[in-house]
Amino acid sequence: MTPQLLDILRQLSHEDFRSGEEVARRLLISRASVHNAVHEAEFLGLRVQAVRGRGYRLALPVSWLDPEVFAPPLSDRGVHAQRLDTLDSTNAHLMAQAQSGAPHKSLVVAEWQGQGRGRRGRAWLCGLGGGLMFSLLWRFNRPASELSGLSLVVGLGLARVLRDLGLRHAGVKWPNDILVDGAKLAGVLIELAGDMLGPSAAVIGVGVNVLGADSLRGAVEQPVTDLSEHLPGHCLDRNVLLRELVLRLNDSLERFDRDGFAPFRLDWEALHAHQNQPVRLINGLGEVTAGLAVGVDESGALLLATENGVQRFHSGEVSLRGLA
Ligand code: BTN
Repeated sequence: MTPQLLDILRQLSHEDFRSGEEVARRLLISRASVHNAVHEAEFLGLRVQAVRGRGYRLALPVSWLDPEVFAPPLSDRGVHAQRLDTLDSTNAHLMAQAQSGAPHKSLVVAEWQGQGRGRRGRAWLCGLGGGLMFSLLWRFNRPASELSGLSLVVGLGLARVLRDLGLRHAGVKWPNDILVDGAKLAGVLIELAGDMLGPSAAVIGVGVNVLGADSLRGAVEQPVTDLSEHLPGHCLDRNVLLRELVLRLNDSLERFDRDGFAPFRLDWEALHAHQNQPVRLINGLGEVTAGLAVGVDESGALLLATENGVQRFHSGEVSLRGLA
């Protein structure tokens, strides 16, 4: 990404056209740089309308990340927030920082990831300005061997906030996807640092589709959705979303570190998108188990009622039975 791209785009709005000349004058750059930036933005998935004689306008209402909006309430809870315009992956960046001693509750949020990581070695794709991507470093008092319910706690916290914001159908898919009516709205990637016995640290990466899911369809193999499809007419400010999600995660993670997953279990099952539905679980070896998803145990393992009785799963990929 060209270094001045975001400075240029931050000068544009969804409401009014702004001429290339005016943007160039404000930033003390050439009109050609503005023109090139618009092309680069389109290439990165951000649509910009260009009308001769009027200038440029963002096709969708993008809320650029602004630390002045999201950081103060987070800092009150001890969160050290850092916004970066572009990096490879917020998880990779924070893992490296964690290894060189970054403090508990370090938060990195980025406008653009060149190599966003998803679970199971997949890529996480997101158009410029279309998503919220952040990672939070949490240093736990418990060892990594006692963090098995962590991803469920994170997914549950995200789904609760999204419901509070008006997404009444937001639910969790085991272990931690956020679905709305069967389509993926958000995903979580947790990477652990530290040993299995002593105090542990986790980098908790969250990606939420905010705008532009239509351009992801085709590139992503499962149904996807975004916030704008479910909250039409709402002002989807990513700063507010970030603030609310991190405040909720802060509360949930403090409780999880103290009490483990057990107090979250019933709440998780209440939002479980596949609760009591027939599903298939595929493990890392490609073996398939079919059963009824009857819930999770106190460690967060998925409970499947199969023809051989109730079985417990600590990892795997769930799909509704009958669907790929
Ligand atoms: C998944 O559902 O596969 C997990 C997606 C996690 C994506 C987020 S975006 C912010 C953070 N940084 C990454 O590289 N990945 C996570």
